[in-house]
Amino acid sequence: MYDFKIEATDKSTLYRDLAAALGGLVAGEPDAIANMANASSLIFETLPDVNWVGFYRNVDGGLLLGPFQGRAACIRIPFGTGVCGVAAETREVQRVEDVHAFSSHIACDPASRSEIVIPLIRDGNLLGVLDIDSPDIGRFDALDEAGCTALGEIMARAI
Ligand code: SME
Repeated sequence: MYDFKIEATDKSTLYRDLAAALGGLVAGEPDAIANMANASSLIFETLPDVNWVGFYRNVDGGLLLGPFQGRAACIRIPFGTGVCGVAAETREVQRVEDVHAFSSHIACDPASRSEIVIPLIRDGNLLGVLDIDSPDIGRFDALDEAGCTALGEIMARAI
């Protein structure tokens, strides 16, 4: 059993502790699905005010739903479509304050109001994306972007 006690009160410490826990969780395990499944759970349980955490994998030139926590989600997303598809196509983090203002946003859970998507790149190849949704507008700030980018770097080596 894993029992991570991450009780930081400030965001930087929270992400530092979360990254350390995630690194430990995936260390030594080569199976990508197992690592994405455990990562989804750990991030979902640790970050406050999130309603969906999960992965889309780059399969056959599109994004395919991977392990996640939250409501059932759309299965295939073309590159360039939605927040995830734009992150995959541009290979740049997408941090969206209000998803209703993002023209091609794909509403999997109508409760989601803000979103951050981290492209997962290893050796120049896009492996997939890490997607985190929140029911609060503007939930993700620059500190969240830095923290989630660090989580994405760990996962890009673990899948
Ligand atoms: N909202 C995403 C789709 C995936 S769900 O949020 C789980 C998007 O626009 O790409």
